[in-house]
Amino acid sequence: MEYQLCPSILAADFWRLGEEVAQVEQAGVKWLHIDIMDGCFVPTISMGVPVVASLRKRTSLFFDVHIMAQEPTHLIKEFAQAGADMITVHAEACTHLDRTLGMIHELGCKAGIAINPATPVSVLENVIELADMVLIMTVNPGFGGQKYISYCTEKIRRLREMAESREKDLYIEVDGGINRETIYQVLEAGANVIVAGSAVFGKDIPENVRALKGIIEEYEHSADLRR
Ligand code: DX5
Ligand code: ZN
Repeated sequence: MEYQLCPSILAADFWRLGEEVAQVEQAGVKWLHIDIMDGCFVPTISMGVPVVASLRKRTSLFFDVHIMAQEPTHLIKEFAQAGADMITVHAEACTHLDRTLGMIHELGCKAGIAINPATPVSVLENVIELADMVLIMTVNPGFGGQKYISYCTEKIRRLREMAESREKDLYIEVDGGINRETIYQVLEAGANVIVAGSAVFGKDIPENVRALKGIIEEYEHSADLRR
C-alpha cells in the first residue's frame, strides 16, 4: 500500500503560500491538500479556483482538492482545468453522487468521496467501486486546528474491511486533528493518506514534515514485517 502525508494549506501563512508549499515539497511531500469551502455546506469560506491555478504553475505536487460545497457538481470542471489531480466531494452534499463521480473521471481526475463524522460508512456500499479514495473526516469540516473525534477510528477500520472484502485498492484519507499523537491510531486502523494542517504549517515546517513522515515510514516498515 502506498502511504502519503498530505499537508493542508488551509493552515499555511497565505502571505508566504508559495514559499511554504516549496518547503513541504523540498521536505519530500508528494501530495498537497487544498480545502475549498463555500460558506454554505460549511460555515466559512477558504479559497477558490485562482489559488489552485496559481499553485499549479509553480509545482508538480499531486493536488488533492477537497470540496466542501453544497451541490458541488457545477464547480468540478473549473477545478479540473485549474490543475486538480484528485477531486473529493461530500456524500452529504451531492444529490446525484454517482453522476458527480462519473463527471470527475470524465474530466481526467481521480475521484474521492468524503463523509462527515456523523455519516456512517454504510452510505458507501453502492458507490465504493466508483471512487479512487474515501475521505473519512475526523473533525466536523470547516476549520483547521480542531480536536480529533475518536469514534472515527472505528469508521476507518470498517471502511478498510469493506474495501478488502471487495479486493478494492482504495485510498483511505483522514482529515482533521491529525498530529504526532493521533497519527498512530489512523494508520493502525487502515488509513493511508494522512492530511495534516496545523501539525505541518507551524513554526518549523521541514521538521514537522520530517517527524510525521518518519512515523508513517516506521509504521509502513513494521507493517511489512508483520505481513
Ligand atoms: C477541515 C479541513 C482540513 C483542515 C485540517 O475542514 O478539511 O483539511 O485543514 O486541519 P488540521 O490538520 O489543523 O485539523
Ligand atoms: Zn480537508
